[in-house]
Amino acid sequence: MTIDTAPTSLYWDPFDTEIDDDPYPLWRRMRDEAPVYRNDRYDFWALSRFHDVEAASKDPKTFSSSHTTVLETMGPKVDDTHMMIFMDPPEHTALRSLVSRAFTPRRVGGLEERIRGICADLLDPQVGSGGFDYVVDFAAQLPSRVISTLVGVPPEDQEEQRRNVDGMFHIEPDVGMRNEQAMESGLKVALYLFGLVQQRRQEPRDDLLSALVQAEVTDPDGTTRHLTDEECTRFGLLLYSAGTETVAKLLGNAALVLAENPDQRADMVAHPEVVPNAVEELLRFEPPSPVNGRWTTAEVEFHGVRIPEGSKVLMLTGSAGRDERVFDDPDRFDVRRKINHHLTFGYGVHFCIGAALARLEGRIGLEETLKRFPEWGADRATATRVHTSTVRGHHSVPITL
Ligand code: HEM
Repeated sequence: MTIDTAPTSLYWDPFDTEIDDDPYPLWRRMRDEAPVYRNDRYDFWALSRFHDVEAASKDPKTFSSSHTTVLETMGPKVDDTHMMIFMDPPEHTALRSLVSRAFTPRRVGGLEERIRGICADLLDPQVGSGGFDYVVDFAAQLPSRVISTLVGVPPEDQEEQRRNVDGMFHIEPDVGMRNEQAMESGLKVALYLFGLVQQRRQEPRDDLLSALVQAEVTDPDGTTRHLTDEECTRFGLLLYSAGTETVAKLLGNAALVLAENPDQRADMVAHPEVVPNAVEELLRFEPPSPVNGRWTTAEVEFHGVRIPEGSKVLMLTGSAGRDERVFDDPDRFDVRRKINHHLTFGYGVHFCIGAALARLEGRIGLEETLKRFPEWGADRATATRVHTSTVRGHHSVPITL
């Protein structure tokens, strides 16, 4: 069966801010009418069904990450930043196993008390207030402080680096994330981390950068070596950028979705054991990272549509989470929904290495919020959305208490 790849009335554009406000109705149409969607203007294809996104994620040989995974930076040129998110096996495998060793469950689990402490520092001053900005004052602060602690950024530098990481996600019309402000911000964080890596080489501490500096990696040719300062910096940069924005978006989305579903929120207050599942449902329902790109290394066929070699393919994990072929009544938010598996953290070799940390921060962030504020009001009309072609969420979500 051949499906029409682009019916004229169906147009999805990842840079269109109006579409981005609520892409779900359009993604539903794409799943039904054009599961292999073609956009000529930006020269990409998009897969929107759960099983197609899953299949592409499981095939890194055909669906390569090495041309980057962000639409505006993807092209025939292979990425040379050496960040593992933009690498394919076997090079990716070696680096991934190294970071997995530095990013241990012990290191992550050991952060629980620290995360609760940060939540208390941020939320206690708001008790008795009439309201606050849940993203600016809490959701954007928490992951940044947690990652800073993990990576080894001292408290006095954390706010400046948080602002720089935020700047890396700045987007401009037509050029998207490839703009001067985003590049300048990225450079600032990189230079800062480079200095920190050099310090850690002299004086290792109990943090992730020190672990990276000390770790040995075996290259595909069998040579064992330490990572260079530049490689450690890139890791720091990747963890810092991937771990800050996404969790901030998760919690910001939670503030809105829970205000819109007070019965579900009341269930979480009355039964805190539901919170971990509520985090999974929030991840499925409003994914912070709903679009992940790949470059095809060979022609590939889905539903009778051929995608040529050397194409940009966007995997819509955000649409996959709403796929009625997998989830019953997918547009209903239900903190008790049984979720076997979602794709919000990706799937396969690039599965989010920070998933355990993100889940921990999401759970504790919500537990500590609900303990202090069992009810709040929030309105999409007063929230400010951040528009990028990858991360989706809010800059600001004012809540009333
Ligand atoms: C709710 C929060 C988060 C979401 C939704 C999320 C989502 C994702 C997704 C979808 C991928 C796969 C990308 C791809 O296949 O191209 C990914 C990979 C990654 N994430 Fe996360 N992430 C989150 C939190 C974090 C945190 C807290 C960290 C670090 C501390 C982190 C670090 C990474 C890294 C390093 C990769 C690359 C892994 C690889 O290439 O092997 N993420 N994440």
